Amino acid sequence: MISRVKGTQDVLPARFTSKPDAQIERWLFVERAAREAFRRYGFEEIRTPIIERTELFERGVGSETDVNKEMYTFADRDGEMISLRPESTAPVVRAYSEHGLFNQAGLVKLFYIGPQFRRERPQKGRYRQFWQIGVEVLGQSDAPAIEAEVIEMLDWLLNELGITDTDLLINSIGDGQCRPAYIARLKEAIFERLGALCGNCRLRAETNPLRVLDCKVESCQAYLAELPRINESLCEPCANHFTEFRRLLAQRGIAYKIEPRLVRGLDYYMRTAFEITGASLGAQNTLIGGGRYDGLSEILGGQPVKGFGFASGVERLVMSVPDSKINLDATKPELFVACVGPESRDYAYALGRRLRAEGVTTIVDLEGRKLKKALAVANSIGARYSLIIGEDEIKSGSYALRDMTTGEQNNLRESEIVDTLKYRRLF
Ligand code: HAM
Repeated sequence: MISRVKGTQDVLPARFTSKPDAQIERWLFVERAAREAFRRYGFEEIRTPIIERTELFERGVGSETDVNKEMYTFADRDGEMISLRPESTAPVVRAYSEHGLFNQAGLVKLFYIGPQFRRERPQKGRYRQFWQIGVEVLGQSDAPAIEAEVIEMLDWLLNELGITDTDLLINSIGDGQCRPAYIARLKEAIFERLGALCGNCRLRAETNPLRVLDCKVESCQAYLAELPRINESLCEPCANHFTEFRRLLAQRGIAYKIEPRLVRGLDYYMRTAFEITGASLGAQNTLIGGGRYDGLSEILGGQPVKGFGFASGVERLVMSVPDSKINLDATKPELFVACVGPESRDYAYALGRRLRAEGVTTIVDLEGRKLKKALAVANSIGARYSLIIGEDEIKSGSYALRDMTTGEQNNLRESEIVDTLKYRRLF
């Protein structure tokens, strides 16, 4: 049998898999909570294509970034270079510009939920197809209150998901005013220590010196700690922005750590960069990453637009949700209808149709099984209740509704069954 592509996964009902991040009930719980957070904070949904012109990411995320190098890219039949999206910020900014949303009064607050593609080395929490939930706040304002409110929303969402063991790491990486001078000094300091650094750092020293700060190799750490810190080289407007952002976090009672080496892996960021890490995740412990990207729109050839947002790996959120939060019964059917003999089948089909019309999840035995076998099926699919249609039931219009966990049985009429079972499900 042909198997799935490396680094991808199937998400299934929990009764078919014990792998937490492959259980659909967990995904639904996370998505529902995220949508609720977005509703409360006034975000609207956007869906952009999975394929985009390669150039969008080449210019957007930067040609020397890992994300760009990990893209799935192909030449279309007409020769146009197309990529599977590795992230959604550049596509959302493209769509914002393409649909003239800059004419809107006020901020445009968008959210998305969808798959992204990066050809990374797969490991726990790292896939080649993974899902992101993210938001982008776009408009003419760069008020630090935007950053603070988005992080307040994330605080609410993580709490709702029961993910409590997290750290919020923040940094400011400056702007076009103050960063070039910093990068020059950084490069100089890196070259002074070049011999002691790992191969990757040596490569990046030339192509993307900021990312040297991000290196996780143990033997580099002592040297990296000595490098000049970007948040100590900020120009006045950037420093003021960072101070106000921190004041607004403190005002909300949101704890944070300043992480001077947090630079993020995409070129479009300026000023605010942040990540939220989760304690239970292992090596791939970044649950959420984001930042400010004023200027990205112009890099893509659009109007000047200011932006701030984040994206979170859904698999990582799903893995971090404690079991106690998940209702693994949420997708199970309420009712299984079995028949005593062939003559009761047509009656069962009609009853099933009426119950569904009233909102009850009903599975009618379509396979014509003998009663005992049919009830074994009801058990194995986890139906909460079953009822059996025979001659007596058809005559009296009253059915023995059996609770499949307790074995308790009650004789009920159709309307009473509807009252008992209607809309019991969570999703
Ligand atoms: P990013 O840091 O590249 O940022 O990705 C955000 C999150 O996506 C990560 O923190 C992680 O949870 C998840 N993620 C990334 N790669 C993988 C992978 N291979 N497997 C599983 N999960 C993964 C961005 O993508 C930016 N567009 C975020 C942003 C939005 N910045 C501003 N607005």
